[in-house]
Amino acid sequence: MWERGCFQYLGNVVPARRFNYIPAMKIIDMRSDTVTRPSEEMRRVMATAEVGDDVLGDDPTVIELEKYVAGLFEREAALYVPSGTMGNQICLKVQSEPGWELLCDRQCHVVNYEVAGPVVHSGLLVNLITTERGMVTAEMVRESIRPLNLHCPLTKMVALENSHNHHGGTILPQDEIIKVREVCNEFGLVFHLDGARIWNAHVATGLSLPELTRPFDSVSVCLSKGLGAPIGSVVLGTREFIEKCRRERKLFGGGMRQVGIIAAAGLYAVRNNIERLAEDHANARFMAEGLNELDLFNVDMSRVETNIVIVDVTGDNSPADVCSKMEETGVRALPFGPKQIRFVLHLDVSRSDCEEALKRIGEM
Ligand SMILES: Cc1ncc(COP(=O)(O)O)c(C=O)c1O
Repeated sequence: MWERGCFQYLGNVVPARRFNYIPAMKIIDMRSDTVTRPSEEMRRVMATAEVGDDVLGDDPTVIELEKYVAGLFEREAALYVPSGTMGNQICLKVQSEPGWELLCDRQCHVVNYEVAGPVVHSGLLVNLITTERGMVTAEMVRESIRPLNLHCPLTKMVALENSHNHHGGTILPQDEIIKVREVCNEFGLVFHLDGARIWNAHVATGLSLPELTRPFDSVSVCLSKGLGAPIGSVVLGTREFIEKCRRERKLFGGGMRQVGIIAAAGLYAVRNNIERLAEDHANARFMAEGLNELDLFNVDMSRVETNIVIVDVTGDNSPADVCSKMEETGVRALPFGPKQIRFVLHLDVSRSDCEEALKRIGEM
């Protein structure tokens, strides 16, 4: 039922006949950086977390997490939310009116993987702009702004994603982001960042988290991607904005009670797992180089900037078939386009796992 058009590959993500491998074989799971399992130490801090009722506003661990993350980004306030999807959609909802137009990259998560959230939750008209590597430039924004005219929708929002998942973990150029901010100022547009993997952009560029995110009115960051928490995202902005988001979170059904149990994992993740992302980036390059040497794949090395590797499958091979074959050897990756497969590096995949994965794929 999902098999339609260029997104056909999405219907076939995990073949049912999996786990066809020798039981003792280690599974090397590179489908996503969301597959990480909490470490022993993370589980320990979860088990011993102080908790309260966060809907009543007195869960000390959530309060500590929100304060800590707000501090990291030099923002007035932060709100813990269950998912990046909810974080993004709340940010759009709180800052918009139905019928406004949102500009974003054609491949962005906010539109393509959040189940039509912008239209369902906020009544936004979405204008998808084709970009090279995820960057909707200042010129593109300027050209897309419609005239103030009785007949036209009001172009009022821009959303960017950094690093950009679908473009292969690419990092948006910061000087261009600043130029987009200037256009937003000139035309009164709201500027949102889906910073699910902003941590990766920070580690790869050396730019600080506040520097990367200051141009945006609202930011949503994920704790459950490369940082390795089992759940949770954080929305950042002014105190007034965050109070509106808190109300909206309740409306979304995202008010949670003794949620310090999982916020503790998020706190552990931001305190311990940011700098180590450099290892994932190095492993991503290692995998990309290794895969590129195989006849089966072509890799655009210039796009391997962080922890994601997108490979083109050569010849008549279909990504779903190749993933299925890899699965039989205990290596997992995702079909990610009509001819593409995505490998994502994370804290549960070591350098020796990469070597082993390349060996198994090579022998396949
Ligand atoms: C770029 C980006 N934004 C947002 C999300 C949504 O996060 P969640 O799965 O927590 O809803 C994801 C998830 O993979 C993502 O890759």
